[in-house]
Amino acid sequence: MAVDLLLGLQWGDEGKGKIVDVLTSKYNIIARFQGGPNAGHTLVFNGKKHVLHTIPSGIFHEDAINLVGNGVVIDPVIFKKELDKLTEQGVDYKKNLLISRKAHVILPTHRLLDAASETSKGKAKIGSTLKGIGPTYMDKTGRNGIRVGDLEMNDWKEKYRALANKHEAMIDFYNVDIQYDLDELEAEFFEGVEQLKTLQFIDSEEYVFQAQKAEKSILAEGAQGSLLDIDFGTYPFVTSSNTTAAGACTGLGIAPNKIGDVFGIFKAYTTRVGSGPFPTELFDEDGATMAKVGNEFGATTGRPRRCGWLDLVALKYACQVNGVTQLMMMKADVLSGFETLKVCTAYNYKGKTITHLPYNIEEENVSPIYSEMAGWKADLTSMSEASQLPKALNEYIDFLEKELEIPIKIVSVGPDRKQTIFR
Ligand code: GDP
Ligand code: IMO
Ligand code: MG
Repeated sequence: MAVDLLLGLQWGDEGKGKIVDVLTSKYNIIARFQGGPNAGHTLVFNGKKHVLHTIPSGIFHEDAINLVGNGVVIDPVIFKKELDKLTEQGVDYKKNLLISRKAHVILPTHRLLDAASETSKGKAKIGSTLKGIGPTYMDKTGRNGIRVGDLEMNDWKEKYRALANKHEAMIDFYNVDIQYDLDELEAEFFEGVEQLKTLQFIDSEEYVFQAQKAEKSILAEGAQGSLLDIDFGTYPFVTSSNTTAAGACTGLGIAPNKIGDVFGIFKAYTTRVGSGPFPTELFDEDGATMAKVGNEFGATTGRPRRCGWLDLVALKYACQVNGVTQLMMMKADVLSGFETLKVCTAYNYKGKTITHLPYNIEEENVSPIYSEMAGWKADLTSMSEASQLPKALNEYIDFLEKELEIPIKIVSVGPDRKQTIFR
């Protein structure tokens, strides 16, 4: 059976966690394929909010298997905190949470290296979540990393020591003021590793293959968003993994010809957290309203998210790179009350009008060209049927569907599981 993918099409935080949770009842297996605890996926149901960082968003459904794939990087310290929270909620994760042996492990010194690298960059910093993501993927591609499967070997602590020593020398090389107590960090790390080792480690590509053969339905859950992809994002202001559809192939071992639907998630406007270009960013009252009504603060770092109008040039690009088959529009409720809405349909690029995403999208190269549309006043948050949606919102949706040539199948009108309208 083909594997469906669910991906963020912007700069992350589109609402992936919520939709995975909504869709989980249709799937046997939910699998994360890249990223790590830089992600923060929020789920809201029964009046409670849950934030997951590494654990797939299907974990609250008893019948679903949740797989952390080989493309993911795991910090045992953060993972332990996530597991402890699940235990507090009464979730018995032991039987339905599986970990790929080929997933890489984030060491305490990876986090320190992340901080040292960012500090040394000064104003040019990426705005990393400082979870050690970049340094861990560097060790993976540099062929120095420690994998989950190594933790089952007797000599893994020797490997660990050698790598941590090397990292300490690298931290010194940065010559920046980073204070740390490695003994303390290591104590919590080893504790995290012990807890991680109580879970089921598997050869996940074989598991996924056999599951497909047995006609099990699988949903691959992306982290971050397409514009943060290491190849196709706004480099260097990106994360260190392939967040796009291809990342699901390498991050789970799914053959490209075994991919089914590709669900692309986007906010009805745009947000970004961290540094980097953002052509439709607003610095006015409209942007402040989006931030306030949308409660736009990072689920991992608590940093305020930058807000702006929907950028169709960037969205079209993301749909192309991912082969999106169905769209899901999130946070439509946040746009209620705007007199006029703007959608960027082209860029002015060095004096020319273009409709594709160019190499340089910094402010000095690109300025957005907008189409204006009428807004709507109605509060959407208690609506549950497509027939209830206001006319102006339907026109907004029709416009986007025409431009993108992909149907919008879900409109989300609030953070709760129930605030989801299927079209
Ligand atoms: P993810 O990283 O893609 O899973 O998204 P985040 O959880 O980081 O950010 C999405 C935020 O928007 C969370 O606080 C969600 O609870 C919230 N959210 C999701 N969908 C909606 C929606 O339709 N309306 C509103 N107002 N909030 C939403
Ligand atoms: P979810 O899965 C939004 C951003 C950071 C920074 C850049 C690099 O919740 O959508 P990193 O820590 O990966 O080195 O940071 O990427 N970033 C995210 N922004 N949502 C995320 O994940 C993000 N994960 C990383 O803010 O700009
Ligand atoms: Mg998030």
